[in-house]
Amino acid sequence: MHIHFHGHACFEIEWEAGRILIDPFLSGNPTATAKPEDFTDLDGILVTHGHGDHLGDAIQLSKQTGAPIIAVFELANYCQKRGAKAHAMHVGGKHEFAFGWVKLTQAVHGSGIETPEGDMIYGGLACGFLIQAEGKWLYHAGDTGLFGDMELIGRRYPIEVAMLPIGDNFVMGVEEAVHASQLLRPKVVIPMHYNTFPVIAQDVGEFLHLLQRRVPESSGKALKPGESC
Ligand code: NI
Ligand code: MN
Repeated sequence: MHIHFHGHACFEIEWEAGRILIDPFLSGNPTATAKPEDFTDLDGILVTHGHGDHLGDAIQLSKQTGAPIIAVFELANYCQKRGAKAHAMHVGGKHEFAFGWVKLTQAVHGSGIETPEGDMIYGGLACGFLIQAEGKWLYHAGDTGLFGDMELIGRRYPIEVAMLPIGDNFVMGVEEAVHASQLLRPKVVIPMHYNTFPVIAQDVGEFLHLLQRRVPESSGKALKPGESC
């Protein structure tokens, strides 16, 4: 399995059964090293919520690759109306795709969709994703604050890799993301959603240091945009 980080909250995950892209914010992302045109072959485009830094280029990518956008019902419906292929789900539900299982988890966040005219449309609930690849569970938390049911997620699913936001202001900060790791108990934690814009600037070294001290069973792995693991 290969995990490629494309900056902000965008990950491309590739394994034998498929290739998915999560939160494809590429155009307009000052840190992205990939362009939407670079993707020709995708099996699913997972979008955690309607904010522009997550929905990003999802509709164009769906049209270009034929891959369905996998999102909560309201957001899936929005995308489908604009010419994308979509698979609607909702928080708590799981579905087996050709590439593997996807389960939607709670995320404490908004999901308004900003139209080109600047109006805000209701986009349903924000979510996170549990994804089963090669028999292993990956967790992309989406945008979220810290919540106690992360412990429940960690207890029900042995998480191999957790992608957690650390940028603060809109989402968890460094301290809360370390606490989240304590609750989720993943083998590997990849921090995300920081340093894209000045308001979410964070010292990732501090996160890795605190994680090592407080959650020694989880190893932190900070990827720069364009890097893989
Ligand atoms: Ni957001
Ligand atoms: Mn965001």
